[in-house]
Amino acid sequence: MNCGRLQVQERECEESAIVRIECIIDEGDVEKGRLCGGVKLGRGAMTTATTTDVLAKNFVNGEWVESKAARIVERRNPANTDDVVARVPLSTREEMKEAIAAAKDAAAAWSDTPAPTRGKILFRAAHLMEGQKEELARILTREEGKTLKDARGEVQRAANIIEFMAGEGRRMNGETMPSELPKNFSYTLRRPLGVVGAITPWNFPVAIPVWKIAPALAYGNTVVFKPSTLTPLTAMKVAEIFHQAGVPAGALNVVMGSGRETGDELVQNRLVHGLSFTGSTEVGSHLYASGAKGLKKIQCEMGGKNPVVVMADADLSLAVEATAQGAFGSTGQRCTATSRVVVEETIADEFVKRLVERANRFVVGDGMDAGVEMGPSVDENQLQTVVKYIEIGKSEGKLLCGGERLTGGKYNKGWFVAPTVIDGIAVENRVAQEEIFGPVVSVIRVKNFDEAIEAANSVRYGLSSAIYSTDSNKIFEFVDKIETGMTHVNSPTVGGEAHVPFGGAKESSVGAREVGHAAMDFYTDIKIVYVDYTGRKRESNIY
Ligand code: UN1
Repeated sequence: MNCGRLQVQERECEESAIVRIECIIDEGDVEKGRLCGGVKLGRGAMTTATTTDVLAKNFVNGEWVESKAARIVERRNPANTDDVVARVPLSTREEMKEAIAAAKDAAAAWSDTPAPTRGKILFRAAHLMEGQKEELARILTREEGKTLKDARGEVQRAANIIEFMAGEGRRMNGETMPSELPKNFSYTLRRPLGVVGAITPWNFPVAIPVWKIAPALAYGNTVVFKPSTLTPLTAMKVAEIFHQAGVPAGALNVVMGSGRETGDELVQNRLVHGLSFTGSTEVGSHLYASGAKGLKKIQCEMGGKNPVVVMADADLSLAVEATAQGAFGSTGQRCTATSRVVVEETIADEFVKRLVERANRFVVGDGMDAGVEMGPSVDENQLQTVVKYIEIGKSEGKLLCGGERLTGGKYNKGWFVAPTVIDGIAVENRVAQEEIFGPVVSVIRVKNFDEAIEAANSVRYGLSSAIYSTDSNKIFEFVDKIETGMTHVNSPTVGGEAHVPFGGAKESSVGAREVGHAAMDFYTDIKIVYVDYTGRKRESNIY
């Protein structure tokens, strides 16, 4: 390159292998986006890599359409950055408007379709997803990096969610209420909101979109889905399954793009009546404020700083395994991940010794390889965030294991970091307060149960938690006092079942709960109907 600016850009591309689109703010950055998506422009430097490099498409009104976007970003396999998974268009605001218009046009017919009929279509989608589990899981692992075992689990969970939501077609019940007046009664109906938006993250790119799209459709809404640009092929496959199942044109649309442009349009467009978002607390709070201006119904599921509390009477080996699973599983890239362990000091040395042994045995590698327990961070940016927090943790406490980017051999091609345990952390330390989204766990030692509860609650987040104890009195007191939306008794902080509500307290969530029958509260409004069958003028006022 003969121009300094371009040289810098090229180096950035090589290092990060993906342009952080959310950072594209001015023309210069736009140019950078074009360069990094150089495949489209025929540049060599970024296109040396391999394989089935696909241009991701939008899905609008039942058709796969190529975006006219000038900006295209590359997505590379996080376990092997030579492998270009896809090129992703950063669609324009106009393209988002077209998708919203398609959803609007499809809304009346879809909401008029009897709910059990909508349910039957979803049952087909559930079966199709189960039938394509292996294919979908492999796309997911290649694109996001989690282990194939976890990817299969995620796809199964998503299929279960669709199956549950299909049944909701026969459970969209209202209530009937007696009246104070003779020959009168009232009843409620559940009505869809109309067009809803779904903005989803990369870490559960099958399950999270599904737990928004499936209830939205089951209850009669039409959907515009904006997936993360880090997981475009997974998103396309999910949409394809709903399409194959018979979801009509326009009822589900997909637009690839940046939050800044397409996401912004989705939250501001007057034709959109509800928005369901999963992602960071910062973005969620911005979307919530932005949607509030248009009086939209908003649901945000955001960050976590989830503690495992380990009491002296706990089964220690179970507590150690659960902590490792919660902290290092999915590379800690889970809003429910265990990021703090609050341990009674009488057993803390033994607990920590065993946790470090387990962390050191954790097999890190390409999620496609058998036996691997933890894949890479999702991208360079995420890896750098994790490394930055580890440095902060080292200055706040004592690093016991991990603490660095993994290099050498196959690790050189991916964004791998070692499972990390930091001991001697105080409640107010940054690594005990801020979400890291990596395989890092902080140990907070406490004197007794009351101190444990206080430590566990001393954060702005309130998503998930766990207690390990064999004392049922303590367990139920913990359940009463812990300030999290979900809590686990003698089981890890992560995970959730297809028919059980999901969501947090404090700054972790806002709006109605997702998943399970509770999802109806978000995706429908209540219509209230008063009926008078006296055939006479009403004599009394009902207050
Ligand atoms: C889980 O813990 O199984 O973004 C799912 C997230 C959550 C989903 C976690 N919304 O990680």
